[in-house]
Amino acid sequence: MNSKKKLIAGNWKMNGGLAANEALLKAIMAGLGDGGGAACDVAVAVPAPYLAQVQSLTFGSAVAVASQDVSQHEAGAFTGEVSVAMLKEFGVRYALVGHSERRQYHGETDVVVAEKAQRALAAGVTPIICVGETLQEREAGQTESVVKRQLAAVIHLNGHCISEVVVAYEPVWAIGTGRTASPEQAQAVHAVLRAQLAAASEHADRIRLLYGGSMNAANAAQLLSQPDIDGGLVGGASLKAPDFLQIIAAAR
Ligand code: 13P
Repeated sequence: MNSKKKLIAGNWKMNGGLAANEALLKAIMAGLGDGGGAACDVAVAVPAPYLAQVQSLTFGSAVAVASQDVSQHEAGAFTGEVSVAMLKEFGVRYALVGHSERRQYHGETDVVVAEKAQRALAAGVTPIICVGETLQEREAGQTESVVKRQLAAVIHLNGHCISEVVVAYEPVWAIGTGRTASPEQAQAVHAVLRAQLAAASEHADRIRLLYGGSMNAANAAQLLSQPDIDGGLVGGASLKAPDFLQIIAAAR
């Protein structure tokens, strides 16, 4: 059940700017207070050019730095890619892997997602592996088979226990649409993922399963009270400090 610390991760996506980032982070850290102030873990996944700025602003605070992606390659002739070693140099603790926008617009397959998760884990960066069905798949009754296929691809990572990762269920139809999965819909899929993890690892109950997709200050508490929802991956609402702080406060 839900005895582990929840994780609230903001995904800024391709938003931000030096001044806006600073204002946002200062407001979040002030809201959390001196001792960190959060009963949960907090992270922000920021665009790569801002990693240095965000590392320096959040240093010593309760806000962990995350990347939005990581290359599956170690180094070399991969123009435009960012390696996990580079991310480590900027204090990155978590890397989003296989976000639906990467799968959809950048052709990331289950195999690539697994390679990226493996690369992150090997360097001690925790992958936040995203899974989720499209509206078409949900309407065709394929939700379970799609998320199970996506999770199966990453469940046996060489030399690592699946309990070292974070999994985020983000139904594609709920992302940026204002159309959230109901707590019951989200819980139902989380239970499927938990059962699949339990079949692969005796530590499945330790794995944090985040929900993402139009999570906001108004709906977070209900979503986060579900037995298998261990946190949130928050897009739009993570760009507004009061909203993000309210979601953090709901994650007790
Ligand atoms: P929104 O919260 O804006 O729907 O985005 C969710 C998401 O994709 C987080 O990774």
